[in-house]
Amino acid sequence: MKKLMVMMMMMVVMVVVSEASMVQQTCKETPNFSLCVSLLDSDPRGSSADTSGLALILVDKIKGLATKTLNEINSLYKKRPELKGALYECSRRYKAILNADVPEAIEAISKGVPKFGEDGVIDAGVEASACERGFNGKSPLTSLTKSMQNISNVTRAIVRMLL
Ligand SMILES: *[C@@H]1O[C@H](CO)[C@@H](O)[C@H](O)[C@H]1NC(C)=O
Ligand SMILES: *[C@@H]1O[C@H](CO)[C@@H](O)[C@H](O)[C@H]1NC(C)=O
Ligand SMILES: *[C@@H]1O[C@H](CO)[C@@H](O)[C@H](O)[C@H]1NC(C)=O
Repeated sequence: MKKLMVMMMMMVVMVVVSEASMVQQTCKETPNFSLCVSLLDSDPRGSSADTSGLALILVDKIKGLATKTLNEINSLYKKRPELKGALYECSRRYKAILNADVPEAIEAISKGVPKFGEDGVIDAGVEASACERGFNGKSPLTSLTKSMQNISNVTRAIVRMLL
């Protein structure tokens, strides 16, 4: 009985170790290991996900960041009325991430057509960059833009593993 318990405990430990290294192994092949690991380890689904599961978690992070950025844009309309034009353009672009890129990427990755998933993920970074440029160097969103570009690049690298 004791032996059986010990064996079962060892098996649990082995599973946990191999799952941890799945995130690490995958993240090693992305442009930013630490960002990748921190995003995936902070998510309860990360420890048991396969590669497409990891890609879906990161698409979810893109969605979360786009939502956060859109909220920030909405609050800036009042604080920085002089930026109205650029902010409006950014709203449009972040809505495109939420309403087009994210659902497209989720559907494509879930259905096993990663090429279209890659397109959606790349576009999220492109939209963020276009928003940033609209401020002509005086963007109040720079750090959110960089985060989106970085998550987009990390996610893209993982989606490419599915191709
Ligand atoms: C990785 O991302 C983190 C967090 O976004 C950032 O602080 C760091 O500079 C990046 N590292 C590299 C090597 O790009
Ligand atoms: C994004 O990545 C760049 C280059 O890898 C890094 O220098 C920067 O600190 C990162 N920024 C954010 C906000 O993650
Ligand atoms: C993201 O990847 C693109 C294309 O590889 C690269 O040009 C860009 O510098 C990367 N951006 C960041 C913030 O790492």
